[in-house]
Amino acid sequence: MAGNITFTMIKPDAVEANNIGPILAMINKAGFRILAMKYMRLTKTQAGMFYEVHKERPFYGELTEYMSSGPIVAAVLVKNNAVADYRKLIGATDPTKADEGTIRKLFAKSIAANAVHGSDSDENAAIEANFFFSQLERF
Ligand code: RTP
Ligand code: MG
Repeated sequence: MAGNITFTMIKPDAVEANNIGPILAMINKAGFRILAMKYMRLTKTQAGMFYEVHKERPFYGELTEYMSSGPIVAAVLVKNNAVADYRKLIGATDPTKADEGTIRKLFAKSIAANAVHGSDSDENAAIEANFFFSQLERF
């Protein structure tokens, strides 16, 4: 069914702060099922490939440096309306603008170190999931 997966990363700041467990608990509590998951560290080149769409943005260097600064958790999540519902659960990019009770409001440190990534469209969710996971790694 189209539109039922999204891709997320728990970013280096949230891993460093021991917030993998609390964030996964919120994800499950909100009704998402984990289809695939891995704990790994991206090289700067790999982070650059993942965030290729932001190549021309002024924060691209900072973003790829940061995303390769420590381990992350990558996961594919399943739920009806997964992309939109997950963006709602994580909150605004800038944690000072994120709604109360969202993952970024609770755990993000700054606009750059904002705890989690969430796909912004069904098309990008599929591209991002394919970047990290083979069919053999999906359950
Ligand atoms: P994400 O892709 O990580 O889920 O975040 P997003 O859609 O909410 O935000 P996006 O515009 O896609 O930006 C990607 C990531 O780049 C970092 N960023 N830094 N310093 C800055 O002004 C700035 N703006 C964006 C954030 O880590 C953001 O999540
Ligand atoms: Mg984005």
